[in-house]
Amino acid sequence: MPDGLGVAVIGAGMAGRAHAGAYRTAPTLFAPTLPPIRLVSICDVNPEFGTAAARRFGYQRYDSSWRSIAEADDIDVVSVAVANSLHREVVEGLLSAGKHVLCDKPLSDTLEDSRAMADAAGRASSVARVGFTHHRTPGIAYIRELVQNGTLGTVLHVSGRYWTDYGCDPQAPMSWRYLGGPGSGALADIGSHLAYIAEFLAGDVVSVSGGRLSTAVGKRPKPLGAVIGHDHVAVSDEYSDVENDDYAAFSAEFHHGVGSLEVSRVAAGHPNSLVIEVFCENGGARFDQHRPAEIQLYLHDSESARNGYRQVILGPQHPYIAGGLPMDAPGVGFGLNDAFGYQARAFLEEAAGFDEASSLPRCASFSDGVHNMEILAAVAASAADNGKVVAL
Ligand SMILES: NC(=O)c1ccc[n+]([C@@H]2O[C@H](COP(=O)([O-])OP(=O)(O)OC[C@H]3O[C@@H](n4cnc5c(N)ncnc54)[C@H](O)[C@@H]3O)[C@@H](O)[C@H]2O)c1
Repeated sequence: MPDGLGVAVIGAGMAGRAHAGAYRTAPTLFAPTLPPIRLVSICDVNPEFGTAAARRFGYQRYDSSWRSIAEADDIDVVSVAVANSLHREVVEGLLSAGKHVLCDKPLSDTLEDSRAMADAAGRASSVARVGFTHHRTPGIAYIRELVQNGTLGTVLHVSGRYWTDYGCDPQAPMSWRYLGGPGSGALADIGSHLAYIAEFLAGDVVSVSGGRLSTAVGKRPKPLGAVIGHDHVAVSDEYSDVENDDYAAFSAEFHHGVGSLEVSRVAAGHPNSLVIEVFCENGGARFDQHRPAEIQLYLHDSESARNGYRQVILGPQHPYIAGGLPMDAPGVGFGLNDAFGYQARAFLEEAAGFDEASSLPRCASFSDGVHNMEILAAVAASAADNGKVVAL
């Protein structure tokens, strides 16, 4: 058996490539030295995508079936980055083969499957985690710190939005993202992230209300080739029905305060706009993914004529920068690809048996993943019944 941890990534699409690259950088983040990380295999049913990603990210081989990954003696940790409806079969197979599994969000496409996956994780002796990528993002983590240490104080209300525009073009090809029941569209795709971040700042969601799901583009053309992520490819003149939501919104009651969250995949001009804002007893703060090197902070701490939101440039005195990023100087910024690196690092540390205090918080558990799915299901139930209040 080779030394260290052997890594595989299942799915060589948009997220799978981010995971594949993240395992390369993970050993370079933070000081505790990881055991040797062997980049072993990229698995994809599409040989072109799989072999190209294996070559690009320096993995030893390409596999075409997740079963080969489950059976491989030289693989210990596996990222699962395929369509949500495939998560359960692949993850359960990997866990019963004893692999450590990092499953990308949302945990599954149905609440029932996600609960079965959490049961499987409970029986497994290996690590099972979900890829909610954002809670190690320095700006978001710093706002949480300001809430928890009393600087901002108790959250009164939260406003969050995650706008994307990959569905704006009616000629954008049909893909797995447009299939599945109510709430499995924009709500599951990006609302899962937003709900997780909102809870990270304001505590658990207690109930949701005002659920609203809407589909702007009802039919999409079938692609003539394989599609990765939000790519456009040549399409046929045959169309099939979009089954889920392009837009979702809801109100929530959190453990601390209330809030409203809104997500879209048809927000023109917003390819990836994540903004979360908290209003608290002592002030407010805002994180905007477009400006990841800063947060906006307002405190009731000076004369009102001179007071206002201030720009706080993030640097080594903020969470997870000093000793973490290769260049950990003030204002270097932190992007989504860095967040994938941190996620891979946290997962590898846990798989290697490191103490959590060594650098980064753990990735989310499968129980957290089920709770997140329960929020999505509650929003869908609220939307189906005129926005009624649905308790969690
Ligand atoms: N954490 C994040 O920020 C983030 C971002 C994007 C996507 N995701 C999640 O990652 C997952 C994948 O999304 P994506 O955008 O990368 O999808 P994608 O469509 O870009 O890629 C999926 C890949 O899986 C391959 N595939 C299909 N069936 C397979 C099988 N049975 N075995 C192996 N490979 C198979 C496809 O050929 C494709 O290359 C989803 O769960 C999604 O929600 C997370």
